[in-house]
Amino acid sequence: MFEDFAKRVHDIGIIPVIAIQDAKKAVPLAKALVDGGIPAAEVTFRTDAAEEAIKAMAKAYPDMLVGAGTVLSVEKAEAAVKAGAKFIVSPGFDPEVVDWCIAHQVPVSPGLCTPSEIQQAIKRGLSVVKFFPAEASGGVAMLKNFAGPFGGVKFMPTGGISLANLADYAKCPNVLSVGGTWMVKADKINDEKWDEITQMCKDAQKALQGLTLVHVGLNNPNAEAMDKSVAQFEKLGMTVSKAGSSSTFMDGKIEIMNKPFYGTNGHLAYSCYDVDRTIGYLAQFGFHPIPESISKDAKGTKVVYFKEEVNGFAIHLVRA
Ligand code: 3PG
Repeated sequence: MFEDFAKRVHDIGIIPVIAIQDAKKAVPLAKALVDGGIPAAEVTFRTDAAEEAIKAMAKAYPDMLVGAGTVLSVEKAEAAVKAGAKFIVSPGFDPEVVDWCIAHQVPVSPGLCTPSEIQQAIKRGLSVVKFFPAEASGGVAMLKNFAGPFGGVKFMPTGGISLANLADYAKCPNVLSVGGTWMVKADKINDEKWDEITQMCKDAQKALQGLTLVHVGLNNPNAEAMDKSVAQFEKLGMTVSKAGSSSTFMDGKIEIMNKPFYGTNGHLAYSCYDVDRTIGYLAQFGFHPIPESISKDAKGTKVVYFKEEVNGFAIHLVRA
């Protein structure tokens, strides 16, 4: 149920949880988020301005994933949807709110932190839920425990998440997105610190990807040239860590190809937590995947190379 919503949440990866006091600030706030690479917002019904803010954001940025949070009643869910909310979030599991959303085909992510509540969500056909309060309820360790019995459930953890620990959550295969208030604190919104909010969003997106250089690939015209290279790296103190059919790895850091491969000179391999999400992230910087380089498994894309080169090297992503 709600597959399109789940895909959108996954791809954006970070959902800011917003309590806005003044609806006039909603559009510049939305712009700051979009500019920071986070076209999503959970506008909470913790302030009177929530409904107006949702309306303004949804109108100004129709492609943005604007939803309502802290929805504590069916009445509020109705008001939120009427204002343009594309999804409903609540801090706890309220069967009435969940059933209303399902009946009206409105994506809903109820908050929960126990196996009993997860079972209630599964019973209703939900596969995306909010894990709240994440840190106080056991955080990553709890999510790892949920992964066993509830393999089909994806979590949107919030509560105690920040730039400092979001990568720990991003590494969990059952985490769809991370969320929180850290980049949209009330003082930043009230003081209209839009550039700071944009920068915090960019920093968060960067941390979410976890891009780390893992090896350098060097092209060669043929196997003899590769063997010559291997001998030279051995003189530099490196040893063969893997001899494959198309390349030889030295200390796992340098991959010496036995033929010309992607990139003029070779490739730079980066690991990341979720290759599919990072392909989307890098698209904004003009990186286009080479379709025939993509290899997938049940979890999604495992490896990809991009058309654009950096200093004569193709960029290559591998799953961390
Ligand atoms: C929420 O509703 O998800 C929380 O208020 C977010 O918690 P945080 O302020 O710790 O990010």
